[in-house]
Amino acid sequence: MEVIRVKDYDAMSKEAASFLVERINRLKNPILGLATGSTPEGLYKCLIEEYKQGNVSFKDVKSFNLDEYVGLEKNDPNSYYYFMKDKLFDHVDISLDHVRVPNGVATDLQQECVDHEEAIKAAGGIDVQLLGIGANGHIGFNEPGTPFTSKTQVVDLEESTIQANSRFFNSIEEVPTQAVSMGIETIMNSKEILLLASGASKAGALAKLINGDVTEDVPASVLKNHPNVTVIVDEAAFAVVDGK
Ligand code: GLP
Repeated sequence: MEVIRVKDYDAMSKEAASFLVERINRLKNPILGLATGSTPEGLYKCLIEEYKQGNVSFKDVKSFNLDEYVGLEKNDPNSYYYFMKDKLFDHVDISLDHVRVPNGVATDLQQECVDHEEAIKAAGGIDVQLLGIGANGHIGFNEPGTPFTSKTQVVDLEESTIQANSRFFNSIEEVPTQAVSMGIETIMNSKEILLLASGASKAGALAKLINGDVTEDVPASVLKNHPNVTVIVDEAAFAVVDGK
């Protein structure tokens, strides 16, 4: 696991953008695994800027998102499909036929999970998977205790995750309690992984990832078993690792 320390959120976003631009330009048909949340928003802004300046094109990119809330329609402003369109897809030359966000309103959610897995396999697997990290160490929506052998599945969200994500909703009651999420094994099958962490709220989780054991109690710790992981972290998220 390579750890890159940067000053702050903006520096993390820029570093992550140049990392992805390099991969997109190098790979012929890049398959990206994408993430949502506050963490990658700055990265997506930088990618749009790089695209506008002609430094990168998404026309040959295919993407698969990590997760989606159960029960939110694509056009719901809190759905991850909407987030991706709003923050990235609508501003670059990616084809919407080449993006797949799990469908959280599928009538058969189990089948939707199988379909997500199959679509990733059919595309040849994910080249670069982007990840954030939850304050409890979750990746995607894989909460502590999720088996490392998990595939895309319907998951129950922890109370702390519902609480953390309620900032995007009008009230906590509106936050879905379930999600469709790529599993830990799905994530680990990616050829390369880029995890971003910024801010004091992530410092505890980051310390567990960097200094702790590999355990299903800290989902992100599984990344230590992957041969090609880069973590870009800002100073605030490093505080606990530094013993502050
Ligand atoms: C959410 C998402 C994750 C994300 C994490 C952190 O629950 N499912 O993919 O990485 O929590 O979110 P944020 O970046 O907003 O802190």
